[in-house]
Amino acid sequence: MSTSSERFIFEPSPEASAGSWAEDWQEIEKRAAADPLAYWEEQASELEWSQPWEAVLDDSNAPFYKWFVGGKTNIVTNAVDRHITGPHKNKLALIWESEDGKEVRTFSYFSLNRDVEKMANILKAMGVRKGDRVTIYLPRIPEVFFAMLACAKLGAVHSVVFAGFSSDALSSRIDDSESKLVITADGSWINGNVFPLKDIVDEAVKFSPTVENVIVVKRTGTEVHMDPTRDHWYHDLENLPIARGRCETVQVDAEDPLYILYTSGSTGKPKAILHTHGGYMVGTYTTLKNTFDIQEDDRFWCTADAGWVTGHSYLVYGPLLNGATTFMYEGGPTFPHPDRWWKLIEHYGITTFYTAPTAIRSLMRFGDAWATRHDLSSLRLIGSVGEPINPAAWHWFHSVVGGGKAPLMDTWWQTETGMFQITGVPSMPQKPGSAGRAVFGQVAEILDEHGNSVPDGQEGFLTLKNPWPAMARTLYNDEQRFVDTYWSTYPGRYMTGDAAKRDEDGYFWVIGRTDDVIKVSGHRLGTAEVEAAINSHSAVSESAAIGLPHEVKGNAIHSFVVLNQGYAGSRELTEELRAHVSSHLSPIAKPDEIEFVNTLPKTRSGKIMRRVLRARALGQDEGDLSTLEE
Ligand code: WT7
Repeated sequence: MSTSSERFIFEPSPEASAGSWAEDWQEIEKRAAADPLAYWEEQASELEWSQPWEAVLDDSNAPFYKWFVGGKTNIVTNAVDRHITGPHKNKLALIWESEDGKEVRTFSYFSLNRDVEKMANILKAMGVRKGDRVTIYLPRIPEVFFAMLACAKLGAVHSVVFAGFSSDALSSRIDDSESKLVITADGSWINGNVFPLKDIVDEAVKFSPTVENVIVVKRTGTEVHMDPTRDHWYHDLENLPIARGRCETVQVDAEDPLYILYTSGSTGKPKAILHTHGGYMVGTYTTLKNTFDIQEDDRFWCTADAGWVTGHSYLVYGPLLNGATTFMYEGGPTFPHPDRWWKLIEHYGITTFYTAPTAIRSLMRFGDAWATRHDLSSLRLIGSVGEPINPAAWHWFHSVVGGGKAPLMDTWWQTETGMFQITGVPSMPQKPGSAGRAVFGQVAEILDEHGNSVPDGQEGFLTLKNPWPAMARTLYNDEQRFVDTYWSTYPGRYMTGDAAKRDEDGYFWVIGRTDDVIKVSGHRLGTAEVEAAINSHSAVSESAAIGLPHEVKGNAIHSFVVLNQGYAGSRELTEELRAHVSSHLSPIAKPDEIEFVNTLPKTRSGKIMRRVLRARALGQDEGDLSTLEE
């Protein structure tokens, strides 16, 4: 991070701190630091519990922390049920617009509940019970809300898979979670074209012994094959008597699992992050309330897909827990024109807008006029997530989109953390390029490789000292990997995998991943996953993937490929391999460049030295090569 940007500090206007932030944030920060458990207890008390907890935190079996032990609730009790018995009954919970702009669907809390109950009744009739896993593979349509909330309502565990993953990726996630049901759609709209979701599911469940039923939402009207013993149209099920009537929200233990979400790590096998009802509910409720200062008349738009953790925490659960109106748009930012998002903000009077730096950078390139010809003055707060936001993108987002007045909340967190860990509140001065300060009740520390604290201003490993309610409880079916990955480098502390600096004001400057994870357009990909996809092509002997800086995407994937005997590198083969990654993993993982090489640099024990490839590509010093094989 350049030091010149550190000198620019944005002091929020009095209006920004007028709302619930009239109170001095420094006071709250101090109070929470003195007694984090009292702070979290206070937050939990703002929500409904059918049985109170006996202890806020049980750390006797760390790192398997337990929160609100003995407490009973359900995240749906607080996200939906409590609103329909109170003043929010007729308030809009969800506004949705289709990609082509021709359809709008709105749901009050009352009608959202009706749809959630309907879906829950159907799942129940299909034998879904507390603890059962359900895979959800849906586009950005309201049914993804119904499906997630219906699972949670029954105490079943949802596993949402981003509907851009290939059948291989989907199938391994279905099998790993042993899902008995898959909820999907016939297809999804992507820039006017149909992406064949149901075909992909058919391929994925071919050899999945656990899947008993597949529910299919009709979205694109595409012709699909329906297996009469397994597949059901949602619009048929909806009209059956089983779908009718009330469906009780099952009261679960605070520590009962709410969902599994697969994310990339440093091996080819994605990590199954497990989150629970009680702590996750308290964490997402509190952090959204604090950072986005949720107000009664807000229209909150988080552009993330429900297939990622940002969609889970701040598109679905966080806004509903706060009784806010959440907005979902089916399409992307540039179809049919690069002002699609700005048009939506103007039309719906969006007040709070949360997106990723890569989207900002790509929209910035089309010029200011696409944004400035729309009235964006409804925006009160804007936010960023997924990767560091570079000062140029920060200033453009802040001045052109936020009108120079809306505080820009950068939020650093991870699939594992469930909720923000480093961010601010609107009345806190913001420094462009810094994610801000540790959230109330948290202590973040920069350590060197020996676990010693690093002086302010110097780079090191970002760690979190205090447990927090929305923390991942484990990796589903892999407790050892959970301990090894996050809790072994610095015993008693959570290792984030990121490099960062802290400045003398206590603000954090995140640099990026230090492991074999690459953030491409804010998406998290593992080098090993990309390599496994390329290596599955018959021409390939082995390969290495690295991330290199990219102006819009943040990082782009470059692959180094060793071909089998009898194959020669060519333009055609390059395109074929890129398409192969697209169809075997996901289009988001498609390498920008493929280089054919004779060998890969490896350690004597045979590990690929990706850092050497990276240094060479960037023309940097290759560093210590003592372990490089001859
Ligand atoms: C990684 C986690 C949970 C949000 C979506 C991504 C990077 C995330 C920021 C930020 C700098 C950020 C980190 C982190 N990251 N937010 N505001 N500034 N870097 O979740 O896919 O689990 O990725 O995203 O490198 O470790 P994820």
